[in-house]
Parts: sequence; structure tokens; C-alpha cells
Amino acid sequence: MKNFLLDYNLKVRLPILIFVVLAVFVITYYVSYAERMGVGYQPVQPILYSHKLHAGDLKIDCRYCHSDVEKSRQANIPSAKVCMNCHTQARTDRPEIQKLTEYYNKGIPIEWVRIHRVPDFAYFNHSVHVNKGIDCSNCHGDIAGMDVVEQVKDFSMRACLDCHRNPETTIKNIVPGKDAKNINNGPTNCAACHR
Ligand code: HEC
Ligand code: HEC
Ligand code: HEC
Ligand code: HEC
Ligand code: HEC
Repeated sequence: MKNFLLDYNLKVRLPILIFVVLAVFVITYYVSYAERMGVGYQPVQPILYSHKLHAGDLKIDCRYCHSDVEKSRQANIPSAKVCMNCHTQARTDRPEIQKLTEYYNKGIPIEWVRIHRVPDFAYFNHSVHVNKGIDCSNCHGDIAGMDVVEQVKDFSMRACLDCHRNPETTIKNIVPGKDAKNINNGPTNCAACHR
């Protein structure tokens, strides 16, 4: 009787237990993958600035504010001074604009919460991608349609490599005036991104 129980535990219960533990692990891994990679991150910003209003309705070019995106590795966030090009005049009666004006007058930088990020050990350069004609929307989604910016794509190594291997099928939007034919495959050797 004792032997039978031991046998039963080893041959039936143990494999079932191992299977359940593994299955839960694998399912959790895949279900939480996007979230771990930052997808869905949409922090509340210190000023209720809307891309939908400025880049969408008012059609202000992305580069008016993110002016370094074609020149350097980083896409800069504009200083309050850039906002004040218009907001010394526009909507000065609104509380959010008064908040903005106060930051500007006191010379305090606005503490915008960073959304998209790759770890420091990976090298990414905006200008290379943008100048080839890869539109912002391929990596950031429809920012011009967002009131509050949200990360909609995962920035994992797999996502970089998917596009580097198959740029023709992965790149959906080309910057007007650029030609998709001039876009080569991206590098897949480790040292290109881990330098
Ligand atoms: C009037 C200035 C302005 C314009 C025009 C503008 N942005 Fe922005 N952008 C900002 C500011 C300010 C922030 C930081 C606050 C926020 O995240 O909403 C920002 C944040 C972002 C972020 C998130 C940065 C992060 O922390 O990861 C992305 C991506 C972005 N902008 C892309 C775009 C794209 C694409 C366009 C054109 C369709 C555009 N922006 C047009 C001012 C601007
Ligand atoms: C090129 C001109 C221009 C620039 C640059 C600009 N804005 Fe605006 N902004 C406007 C205009 C025009 C409106 C009003 C649009 C409307 O209500 O139809 C507006 C509206 C707003 C509002 C909504 C105010 C309200 O409560 O109705 C906020 C907040 C705002 N802007 C913040 C910013 C910030 C922050 C920046 C800099 C990152 C910025 N704007 C840069 C032109 C600009
Ligand atoms: C090939 C993909 C790709 C394209 C195209 C792209 N971005 Fe990005 N963007 C990224 C990545 C990756 C990061 C995070 C970079 C980091 O952490 O260093 C980022 C971060 C940002 C940030 C936060 C500041 C920074 O540089 O880290 C802003 C703002 C931004 N992008 C705006 C833009 C705008 C505007 C365009 C189009 C003109 C654009 N991006 C095109 C992938 C892209
Ligand atoms: C939507 C497509 C796309 C995505 C997403 C993308 N890339 Fe690229 N990348 C390219 C293409 C295409 C090239 C080659 C451009 C050319 O030479 O024609 C390239 C070139 C590069 C280069 C070589 C040029 C240089 O800067 O030294 C590096 C490094 C690079 N990408 C890093 C990254 C990293 C890191 C990510 C992910 C965070 C990423 N890329 C995401 C399309 C993409
Ligand atoms: C196109 C750019 C690119 C190339 C090429 C690339 N990586 Fe990465 N790698 C990244 C990015 C971005 C991350 C950070 C995001 C993540 O963890 O997925 C990363 C993360 C990693 C990590 C950390 C993973 C983790 O879970 O923290 C390792 C290890 C790694 N890469 C090894 C390699 C090796 C080995 C190669 C060559 C076979 C390689 N990478 C090629 C972009 C790249």
C-alpha cells in the first residue's frame, strides 16, 4: 500500500505538478510580455499638453518641437521657451497656460515624465532612422492622435531585429519626399547595438 502511494505520487502527481507550474510560468511570461516592455505606459504629465491638439488639429510639425530628431541620437523635448513662442498670446486665460507661464517666468524646467526608453547598454540613434525616411509613427504609433502620449509599441531587442531583418514589410509609413528603395536592411550583428 505504501509503495503504491509513493509510486502514484511520483508517476502521476509529480508530473502534473511540474506541468502546471511550467504552464503558469510560460503563460505569465507571454501575457505580461508587452507590459514588461512598457507597452501601455501613459503617465500623467505636469502640464496637460495635447499632441492631438498641437500636432493633429493645429498641424504643427513634429520637428518644430523635437528639433534634434534629424540631427542627433536623442529626440529632444522642447523647453518652455518654444511653447511661449505662441503662448505669450494663445489662451493666456487658461489655468494650464498660466502654469506654463509660471514655469517659464521662474526659469524652472518642466519635469516631463519620460515614456519611451531603451536600456543604456543598447545603442539607438534617431537621426539614422528618421533621415532614411522611417516615419515616427512606425515606432511611436499615431502620436498626432493622442491627447496624452502612450507607448504603443514594444522596444525590445526582438522588435528592433524584426524590422532590421524585414524593413520592407515592417516599415508602414515613409516620410514624404523619401524613397523606401533607399532603405537598406538594418544591422543584426551584436556590436552594432551593443557597443
Ligand atoms: C508643440 C510642441 C510639440 C510638437 C509639435 C510635438 N511634440 Fe512630441 N512632445 C512634446 C512635449 C512637450 C513632450 C513631453 C510631454 C508629453 O509626453 O506629452 C513630447 C513628448 C513626445 C514623445 C514621448 C517622449 C518620451 O518621453 O518618450 C514622443 C514619442 C513624441 N513627443 C513624438 C512626437 C511626434 C511624432 C510629433 C509629431 C506628430 C510630435 N511629438 C509633435 C512637444 C511636442
Ligand atoms: C505654434 C503655436 C503653439 C505652440 C508652439 C504651442 N502651442 Fe499650445 N496651443 C496653441 C493654440 C493656438 C492653442 C489653442 C487651440 C484651441 O483651443 O483651439 C493651444 C492650446 C494649448 C493648451 C490648452 C489650453 C486650454 O486649456 O484650452 C495647452 C495646455 C497648451 N497649448 C500647452 C502647450 C505647451 C506645453 C506647449 C509647448 C510644449 C505648447 N502649447 C506649444 C498654440 C501653440
Ligand atoms: C526606428 C524607431 C524610431 C523612430 C522612427 C522614431 N523613434 Fe523616437 N524613440 C525610439 C526609441 C527606441 C526611443 C528611446 C530611446 C532611448 O531610450 O534612448 C525613442 C524616444 C523618443 C523620444 C524621447 C527622447 C529620446 O530621444 O529618448 C522622443 C521625444 C521621440 N522618440 C520622438 C520621435 C519623433 C518626433 C520621431 C519622428 C521624427 C521619432 N521619435 C522617430 C524609436 C524611434
Ligand atoms: C521600423 C524599423 C526599425 C526599427 C523598429 C528599428 N530600426 Fe534600426 N534601422 C532600421 C533600418 C532600415 C536601418 C538601416 C538604414 C539604412 O542604412 O538604410 C537601421 C539602422 C540601425 C543602426 C545602424 C546605424 C547606426 O546608428 O549606427 C542601429 C545601431 C540601429 N538601427 C539600432 C536600432 C535599435 C537599437 C532599435 C530598437 C530599439 C532599432 N534600431 C529599431 C530600421 C529600424
Ligand atoms: C538592432 C539592435 C540590436 C542587435 C543587433 C542586438 N541587440 Fe541585444 N538588445 C537590443 C536592445 C534594444 C535590448 C534591450 C531591450 C531588451 O531587453 O529586449 C537588448 C538586450 C540584450 C540583452 C539583455 C536581455 C535582457 O533580457 O536583459 C542581451 C544579453 C543581448 N541583447 C545580447 C545580444 C546579442 C548576443 C546580440 C547578437 C547576436 C544582440 N544582442 C544583438 C538591441 C540589439
